[in-house]
Amino acid sequence: MDSRYLGIDHLGIAVPDLAEIREVFERRLGFEVTGEEVVPEQKVRVVKVAAGESDLEFLESTDADGPIAKFLAKRGPGIHHVALRVRDLERTLGELEASGVRLIDREPRVGAGGKKIAFLHPKSTGGILVELCEGEDGEE
Ligand code: CO
Repeated sequence: MDSRYLGIDHLGIAVPDLAEIREVFERRLGFEVTGEEVVPEQKVRVVKVAAGESDLEFLESTDADGPIAKFLAKRGPGIHHVALRVRDLERTLGELEASGVRLIDREPRVGAGGKKIAFLHPKSTGGILVELCEGEDGEE
């Protein structure tokens, strides 16, 4: 059976200061910035850099009460979520839910970059926050 997971779309990384991250990753390490946007529902500003077939998605909170601000206060800067690419998100969510996995998003929603995404509940994934996003094999 083919794996339903096509690859790592991106790692979501919580940081206190995007300006500092750009200084390091863009200017010093030579990453290409492929997107910057504010996602108001998540209370985050996002900077994406390309790392081959996957992206690094740096997340800075726009609000002291936002989920990223809370994550930083509790755990400090670091990996906040792992985003895996799947071919048919709606179907995957249905299959996972049928097998007893708890979902944060039972329906796909629109995430950074206009992609269809959904989060699984960390209670069902060993405490790791997992995002699924719809895409094709080998897509950036
Ligand atoms: Co993400």
